[in-house]
Amino acid sequence: MSAITNLAASMDSMHQIFIKAAADIGDTTSLEQLDAVDAALLGRGSSISESRRGLGAIKDPEERRNTGRAINDVANQIKDLVASRRATLAATEEATALAADSVDVTLPGRMPPRGTQHLITQTIAEIVDIFVSLGYTMATGPEAETEFYNFTALNIPRTHPSRLESDTLYLDYGDEDDEVLLRTHTSPMQARYMEIHDPPVYVVVPGKVFRADATDSTHSPVFHQVEGLAVDENITFADLKGTLATFAREFFGKGTKVKFIPHYFPFTEPSAEMHAYSNGRWIELMGCGMVNPAVFEHVGYDPDKVTGFAFGMGPERLAIIRHGITDAHGNNDLRPLLDPDERILGQYL
Ligand code: PHE
Repeated sequence: MSAITNLAASMDSMHQIFIKAAADIGDTTSLEQLDAVDAALLGRGSSISESRRGLGAIKDPEERRNTGRAINDVANQIKDLVASRRATLAATEEATALAADSVDVTLPGRMPPRGTQHLITQTIAEIVDIFVSLGYTMATGPEAETEFYNFTALNIPRTHPSRLESDTLYLDYGDEDDEVLLRTHTSPMQARYMEIHDPPVYVVVPGKVFRADATDSTHSPVFHQVEGLAVDENITFADLKGTLATFAREFFGKGTKVKFIPHYFPFTEPSAEMHAYSNGRWIELMGCGMVNPAVFEHVGYDPDKVTGFAFGMGPERLAIIRHGITDAHGNNDLRPLLDPDERILGQYL
C-alpha cells in the first residue's frame, strides 16, 4: 500500500519537474542560456540526479524499478526538449549572424581620390605637342652626361666658368672630356642626335637638367628644359623667328608679342634671347640662335650644305608665367611647383 503511494508521489513530482523543465527550456533565448538550463535540469545537483540518488532508499525492488524508469523517462523527455530547443536557437543565431554580416552590394563604392600629372609634366607635354604639330619628332637623352657632349662638342671653351665645380655637379673625374657630370642643359642632345641622324633634323628634347644652385624663387638644383633643333638646307634666322613666335602664340595666346634680343652662346651664332610681352612687361622665355658651324664639324655635318637653329626653354618658367605662380607678395616664384602639397598642385587640375 505504502509502495503504491510512494510511487504515485514520485510520479507526481516527476511530472512537476517535467512541467517546470519544459517552461525553463522554452524560455531560453540563446544557446548560452540553454546550456545553463540543461546543466541545472540534468547535471549534478539537479532534481533528476537527486531523485536517482534517492532510489537506493526504496526497499521494494518492484517499486525501485518503476520509480527508476519514471525518472529515466522524464530525463529522456527533458533531453529531447533541450535538443529540439538547441536546434531552433542555433538556426536563429546563425540567421542573425548572417544578417549582421551581410554586404549591400548596391551601395556605391568608396572612390580613391584621383591623381593628376604634375604641372611641369603637363607643360612639357604641351610644349612638345606644339612642336610635334609643326613636324618635329621627340627624343630624350642621358641625365648623366660626359664633359664632351655637355661642353666640348658645343664649342664651350675649356676655360668657360660653367665647367667649374661651383656651377656643375660632377659624378666622376676622368680624362679630359671623359668626366661624367649631371647635364647642365639639354643641348648635349644636339650633338648626340646629329651624330646618329643625317639632316634634315627637326627634333625637340625634353628632360631634367642639374646645376649647383641653391633653391630660391628663380633657381633649383634640378629643373627642366626643352631643347629644339632644326637643321636643313637654307634654314635662316627668319625660320627661327617664325617658328618660335608661332610657338609663343600657341602657348600664351594668339596676340602674344615677341622680340629677340642679341645674346651670346658658344654653340649658336648669332644668338638671341626671345622675350614675350605678358601682363604688362617683357619677360625672357628662352635662349636661341643659329647653330654654330663649329658644332656641325664635331658631328660630321657639312656647314656649306646645311644650316640650322637651336633653342632651349624652361618649362617651369613658362608655367609660372602662364599660371601666375607667385609668392605671397605677388612675385613670380618657382617654389610652389616644388612643393608636394596637393592643395597647391591641385589647383592646376
Ligand atoms: N642651353 C642653353 C641654356 O641652357 C639654352 C640654349 C639652347 C641656347 C639652344 C641656344 C640654343 O641656357
